[in-house]
Amino acid sequence: MYGRNFEMTAIQQHACPAFLTSIIDQIGSGPLTEERVVRSLHPLFSRVLQREGIYLANHSLGRPMDQAAVDVAEAMDLWYQDLDGAWGPWLEEMQAFRARTASIVGWPDGRAVVPKTSAGQGLRAVLNALPTTQPNIVATQGEFDSIDFILRSYAAQDRARLTWVKPGSTGLFDSAAITKEITDETDIVVVSLVFYATGQSLTGLDEIITRANECGTLVVLDAYHAAGAVPIESVAADADFMIGGSYKYARGGTGACWLAIHPRHLGADSRLMTLDTGWFARKDPFGFARGESVRRGAEGDAWLESTPAILPFYQARSGQQLLLAIGVDRLAAYNDEQQAYLATELDRVGVPTRLIEPRGAFLLVLTEDVKRDCRRLADVGVIADGRPCPSGQGGYIRLCPDVLMTRAEMRSAAEQIGDVIRS
Ligand SMILES: Cc1ncc(COP(=O)(O)O)c(C=O)c1O
Repeated sequence: MYGRNFEMTAIQQHACPAFLTSIIDQIGSGPLTEERVVRSLHPLFSRVLQREGIYLANHSLGRPMDQAAVDVAEAMDLWYQDLDGAWGPWLEEMQAFRARTASIVGWPDGRAVVPKTSAGQGLRAVLNALPTTQPNIVATQGEFDSIDFILRSYAAQDRARLTWVKPGSTGLFDSAAITKEITDETDIVVVSLVFYATGQSLTGLDEIITRANECGTLVVLDAYHAAGAVPIESVAADADFMIGGSYKYARGGTGACWLAIHPRHLGADSRLMTLDTGWFARKDPFGFARGESVRRGAEGDAWLESTPAILPFYQARSGQQLLLAIGVDRLAAYNDEQQAYLATELDRVGVPTRLIEPRGAFLLVLTEDVKRDCRRLADVGVIADGRPCPSGQGGYIRLCPDVLMTRAEMRSAAEQIGDVIRS
């Protein structure tokens, strides 16, 4: 149904920013170690590390670098000093955000990444681009609430017909079960690369994409829990769309989200053109031309929309730069070690963990009453969160040690979690 010819262009290289250069030298090029992380990285997070307590909700809202406030101040200074002259550097920052995002998730071209203020907005842009008014959509029951609610809202307005893929008895999703639901009638399949409730990392993506190709079905990947947390396998770049954002592993706060579009949908002959549009989607937005002859911009620019929110690009800059400077692979390998250490410590105090293989950046502790236990943990200074089990029985506390977390903190958190779970 949709054409599939394109050639990969080189993923952009990014210069290390001045504030990070000496830090990255100190860290060196090998595996990360706690000693080097504490010595080199901790000073870059002095503001957030002043806070008391142990923060294990990094999978929810990532911890910002001190530099984030400096970067936002830069955007404001441009405004104070240059007024509408700020648009030049502001829009350059938007392009840099697009390019950095592409590099982090392995998308072939930054111009094919479109800034959005939420991942859900990215999904809606896709739904509002289809040449059919009531698409058949296959999605899993494990998609995040925002995505789930958007899909259900479209269905409630007769703007979509949904097929939900259930998890298996272990609460995990199986790519074969997803693939089985894709038929010639399916317009879109929506699936997470890493599931938000359990951290399960999807395997068999190539199978889903191959089946989707055969059926002319578009694939939308939700990469929110994968981007910046785990290396994204290269086959993901053959999906039609990827959505995600910055407030978790990219430490970029809210509003700095994105929709990545496969370049095969960005040619003049593409059948997809979103109705989520506005003057920035035009070829020359500042030309102020009107009428039928006005063309859309090239590549992903055609999917831009109204006046963009500028501050999120600055707010997200330092976190993205850190990810690129250290490398997602190295951070993920370190996170694996940290998770293993935390699991051992939890085991020592008699708390069983659920370690799904493969998984993203957090592990699970099963509990009967997840809200109560997270509240009790917060009372003793351990910040975590939880989600109901996909099976409907009890809930999982999600624990994500980010790179800043020390073993001493993990030991102490394990003790507190043990006390709460046993009480
Ligand atoms: C998998 C996943 N997708 C999307 C989102 C956020 O969606 P939105 O930006 O639409 O609020 C989250 C937030 O936790 C998530 O975990």
